[in-house]
This record gives sequence, structure tokens and C-alpha cells, in this order.
Amino acid sequence: MSKVYDIIDKKKLDVVNKPISKAHGLPNECYTNKEYTLIERKKLFEDKWTVIGVASSLKKIGDVKPFDLLGLPLLIVRNKKNKIKVFHNVCSHRGLKLVNKQGNIRNVIRCPYHSWSYNSDGDLIATPHIGGMNKHQSSKFKKSNNNLKEVRSHVWLDLIVVNISNNEIPFEKYIKPLSNRWTKFWKKKDRKLIKHASDYGYFKLKAKCNWKFAIENYCESYHLPWVHPGLNAYSKIEDHYHIQGLPNRFAGQGTIVYNPKFKGKIKFPCFPNWPKNKENIAEYVALFPNVMLGIHKDHFYAYWLEPINHERTLEHMEIYYVGEEAAASKKYKLLRKQNHKLWEDIQKEDVDIIQRMQIGRNSIAYNGGNFSPDMDNPTHHFHKWVATNVV
Ligand code: FES
Ligand SMILES: [Fe+2]
Repeated sequence: MSKVYDIIDKKKLDVVNKPISKAHGLPNECYTNKEYTLIERKKLFEDKWTVIGVASSLKKIGDVKPFDLLGLPLLIVRNKKNKIKVFHNVCSHRGLKLVNKQGNIRNVIRCPYHSWSYNSDGDLIATPHIGGMNKHQSSKFKKSNNNLKEVRSHVWLDLIVVNISNNEIPFEKYIKPLSNRWTKFWKKKDRKLIKHASDYGYFKLKAKCNWKFAIENYCESYHLPWVHPGLNAYSKIEDHYHIQGLPNRFAGQGTIVYNPKFKGKIKFPCFPNWPKNKENIAEYVALFPNVMLGIHKDHFYAYWLEPINHERTLEHMEIYYVGEEAAASKKYKLLRKQNHKLWEDIQKEDVDIIQRMQIGRNSIAYNGGNFSPDMDNPTHHFHKWVATNVV
């Protein structure tokens, strides 16, 4: 693998880390260069905690779901003990990508090529004819040395996070600065109440752009009046404040006037311990590299990115409510539908913009751009995270 400075002039990355009024943003190569993207895969995804899905999308024992991270094939499994496990999605025999589509494996993951088979814990349990016709064992081959390779994983608030290089601190510690920040309105016992909406709980958008644009756009509220006139009608640019995590792992913004206007008198139930004097606060935080979270008194969402290559990204939105009734009953169905539409419309407005950012990165006149010293601070925080961690 190339080194980052073989692809990008060191000065162009160093300038990102200057104080905001003197800094420029990440250079064009960070958005347009395929080789550079492989460095990102290693340094920003494999070496960090990265979201690859949600546990509630694998409901039954034996459910499997493949996930390719910038070309690296992974496999999520709900095992016999009802636990989520993640493996490298490659057969130990000749290296076929083992599972191609989401489904249920019943008891075995069988490779379609020569039928080597694995159980839901990744153990290699069958190797037909390995020792010659009708000899399914071989003294020269030890099955237990050839199980699927497990990836370190953890489930947090339904999100499946992986640390592929197995080098990071435990996720509970990694998330602590953000988790602590949120205890002031979101008590630990309230967090356990979140339930994925049964109907209007999910949508997916395709974005013809680099994954980083979604994160840097999410970090700032500067674009609100022009890109989201609907949202700006009740939550204005001046009602927002910046969030910049230390150590630098997350950034975003908060609003002090969360108060959407939905049709009908009924309202969603709120988290029982959310303080009354903070009812109109909502926070929108991007946890690097690839998940954007939103917490409100009455719902939570996770908007996570599946980077396909340097210029294609899939965006997945998962919406959660407080308790089973709010998430699944008929009573709240119309509200769920409206809330789903609200977020989908907002994210579509953002996708239109960030796709044009990708095109702009082909300009030879662009030098990484400039930040507003007062409005773009969380975006700069993210750029510094990239510029620091990619080397
Ligand atoms: S490649 Fe999987 S069994 Fe041969
Ligand atoms: Fe936006």
C-alpha cells in the first residue's frame, strides 16, 4: 500500500491542522483518488470503530448479512446464542466470498464452490471429500485451524461497530466522552428503551459522492436557511451551537428549539428522565468515521454510511422511538410516517448538495477551500481528525 505522502503533498495535509482562520480543508485527492481511499480504509475504518449495520436488521437466529467496506467483504451473523458476530466473509478453502446476500443460514454457512461448511460461530464443520472420494477428513488438514476469521465487534444502541485491526481501546471506553455528554438529558436507563420503528423506521439513499461529504455537512448548521428552508422555519441557524469532542472523535451541533409541527394532536412519548428544562434541546453528532446520530426527547436516529468507493456512498437511516408502543402501534403510525418523511426530505436536500461538492473537487482551481472561523468549526474538527489519522 502506498504511503499517504506518496499521493498527497505533506504541506496540503499540514495546513488542515492549522488554526481555523489559517487552515484550508482536505485537498482534492482525499475525494478523488482511489489509491488514497485504500489508505483511508486501513487508517480511518479498519483501525477505528466503524458502524456496519444494526442488530435489529438481523432478527432471527441464523440471520446473515454481508457488508462490503470499501471492497473488504465482511459477514454479520446472529449466532445460535442470539449474539451478533462478525467474520471476514471469505471461505478458508479457495477464498470465495462466502455469503452474497442477506438471508437465514439455518444451521450452516455452506460455501457454494466445494461445499465446505461453517456453523454460526464460524467453526469449519464439514470438508467433503477433502481426503479423496468419500473421505471427509484428512490427517494432513486440521479443521479447527481454518475457521472463519472473526472480527472484533460490539453492539451499542443497536449499532454494530467493528474494529477490524483489533487495535483500538474497548468501545465502551471509546464512546465514553460522547456518552457522558449525553447523560445530562439521556439517562442510561432511558437509552435502553429505544425501539426500532416497525414500519417507518428505515430508508436508504444513494449519494454519488465521497462518504466524507455527508459527515462534514452534518457537522455544520451554517447551510440550514438555504438548504433546509422547512427545518429552518422552526429551528433557525441562530438557535444552534457547536459540539467538538475531546479527544477528537466526534463533532456536530445542537439546537435549543427542537419543536417539529406534525399534523394531529397526538405526540410521541418522551424519554421518562429527560429533564423538563431541556425539552427543546436536540443534538446532532457525527461519530467518526461513519455514523451520524440524532437525539431528541422523543426519538433517536442513527444515520450511517456505507462507503462503496471514493465517489459512491450508501446512506442508511434507522429511526428509534421510546418503547414498543411508540415504535410499533397503530396509534402512532401517522406520526411515525410524518417523522420519517421529515428526515428523509432533509437528507435528500443534503444529498443534492454534497453530490455537487464531489464535482467541485475536480476543479484544478480549488485548494481545499476556506472555513468560516465562526461557523465551520465542527467541520474543521472532522477535517483535522482525517488529516491526523490518515498519516
Ligand atoms: S472455495 Fe469454498 S469450498 Fe472451495
Ligand atoms: Fe443539512
